[in-house]
Amino acid sequence: CGIIGYVGGKPSERILVEGLKKLEYRGYDSAGIALCTEQGMKVVKAKGRIAELERLLGRQTLPPGTIGIGHTRWATHGKPSDANSHPHTDTLMKISVVHNGIVENETELRKELEEQGAVFRSETDTEVISHLIAFHYAGDIVQAVQAATRRMRGAYALAVLSELEPDKLVAVRLHSPLIIGIGDGEHFVGSDIPAILEHTRDVYILDDGEMAVLTREEARLMTIEGNPIAKQRFRVNWDLATAEKAGYDHFMLKEIYEQPKAYRDTLEGRLFPRYPWTYLPELSLTPERLKQFRNVHLVACGTAYHAGLVGKMAIERWARLPAEADVASEYRYRSPLASPETLVIVVSQSGETADTLAALREAKRRGAHTLAVTNVVGSTAAREADDVLFTRAGPEISVASTKAYTTQLLVLYVLALHLARVRGTLPDAEIEPVVRALGELPEQAESVLQQAGEIRGYAQEIASREHLFFLGRGLDFAVALEGSLKLKEISYIHSEAYAAGELKHGTLALIEEGTPIVALATQPELMSKTASNVREAMARGADVLGIVGAGSPSLSERQLTLPDTHPALMPAIAVVPLQLFAYYAAVARGYDVDKPRNLAKSVTVE
Ligand code: G6P
Repeated sequence: CGIIGYVGGKPSERILVEGLKKLEYRGYDSAGIALCTEQGMKVVKAKGRIAELERLLGRQTLPPGTIGIGHTRWATHGKPSDANSHPHTDTLMKISVVHNGIVENETELRKELEEQGAVFRSETDTEVISHLIAFHYAGDIVQAVQAATRRMRGAYALAVLSELEPDKLVAVRLHSPLIIGIGDGEHFVGSDIPAILEHTRDVYILDDGEMAVLTREEARLMTIEGNPIAKQRFRVNWDLATAEKAGYDHFMLKEIYEQPKAYRDTLEGRLFPRYPWTYLPELSLTPERLKQFRNVHLVACGTAYHAGLVGKMAIERWARLPAEADVASEYRYRSPLASPETLVIVVSQSGETADTLAALREAKRRGAHTLAVTNVVGSTAAREADDVLFTRAGPEISVASTKAYTTQLLVLYVLALHLARVRGTLPDAEIEPVVRALGELPEQAESVLQQAGEIRGYAQEIASREHLFFLGRGLDFAVALEGSLKLKEISYIHSEAYAAGELKHGTLALIEEGTPIVALATQPELMSKTASNVREAMARGADVLGIVGAGSPSLSERQLTLPDTHPALMPAIAVVPLQLFAYYAAVARGYDVDKPRNLAKSVTVE
């Protein structure tokens, strides 16, 4: 989510909206602004992109206000809707708040405030903050905010505006970033530098537990307890494009590097180190219902389909349910054998892909129980499916999907374990190592990222080639398919993923001196077989990069050894070097990595 705030001499409406546009990459499912005007507090907010908010503002004339706050939201708590959009206000609409983060003791505070007569208008934890501040207000907004923060547990960045003291903006930071912009007769607050960069390059970067009280003339900095602090100004010396990408050259690279954090967020609260191992309270499926399923269909497009292939293997192995993975555009028209005893899992980053939605509707028509695995709260798939599990990857901007794919894998692993545990198909002694290994994945992904230099070197070497093969068996084949797709999408190098054992049945004819092959061997029981297939190709001149698990026989001179994890989880580690490989190949060829030709992030036609 993104925060912006302004106090100064200019009309703030445009400044806030333009600031929000710069933050749209942080979230885009609803947006809003609040202004203090001569006619009191005015709040305009709407579900949808910033353009929607602009349309709404275009249809009315707000009295001018030179102080205001704004927010762009990426829903985590309460679906995207007009009511759940920020800013949120207290009962009398005297105080408005924008917030990033989470109030952990929301339920308790909400109950308490309702008992005091607060009237809630949304499902968000943020609204609790506005009521809490109002409750503590006794003539001083700064003290009221301080009193409120003493009651709140969690992580937050806040900007607060009050009609009762219309010359002041209050900003607070606790575990969620917030910066203050210093202008000439004006001050800004932003969750991130891009929001204010158009107006000033001089900023204070608030630390945890610090707050700022902003007026036209001054920025007073203090701790949340109210002790004044002195802070060094910071001069921003980079431009907007860099800022939005947090210093990375492309969103894709940023998103690749965000994976360790995304893994943690995805698994948060969903696993236990002992029985019952998995915790998915958001599922409506009772254990009885889970036991009734006879088969599983995983349906998706593109990268999400490749996650489905891994999910299929995990569900079959652990939950012993026949599972099929299919591309959505095929599924729908093949008269699928889906019945009320079928669990149909649709996997979709956006939750808006037309082919996937059509397949979802077809499955529902056949009476199947549908479950969406998606990244976007409030998306059509999330709303239409009988159940939903969110991947919590955070906004993914680059067309080529990376962290969305890996977090889909993680959700499918947890779901497969959950099915296995409830159905009693996997003994605790076998669940335990998987749960433990899942917890170690974030750190292992980090260690793979440290090998980026080597991968870059290889990518630069093959960047001038026109054809390439990815080989693997079993789960490695599923990962090879994803690695190949990534490379094609952004580097436009033609590549093919092949089941390693199948190469000799025809495709070996294409191997000649110097043909590049990326070979995966991470599955202990298949390693030696894959190694012989790779040797067959090398004997015909193939130039091989091996990506291997610990204990693999040497595949080639050049190889990358992955951290050791449970074999079933290897895809979540092994795909990372392939993402980097595609990325660096595309960069070496000079293409627009984040916006590949002919492709769209979300395809809403069948
Ligand atoms: C588009 C994108 C792909 C993506 C596919 C499925 O084709 O270019 O990167 O994998 O849609 O998208 P979804 O949002 O349903 O996961």
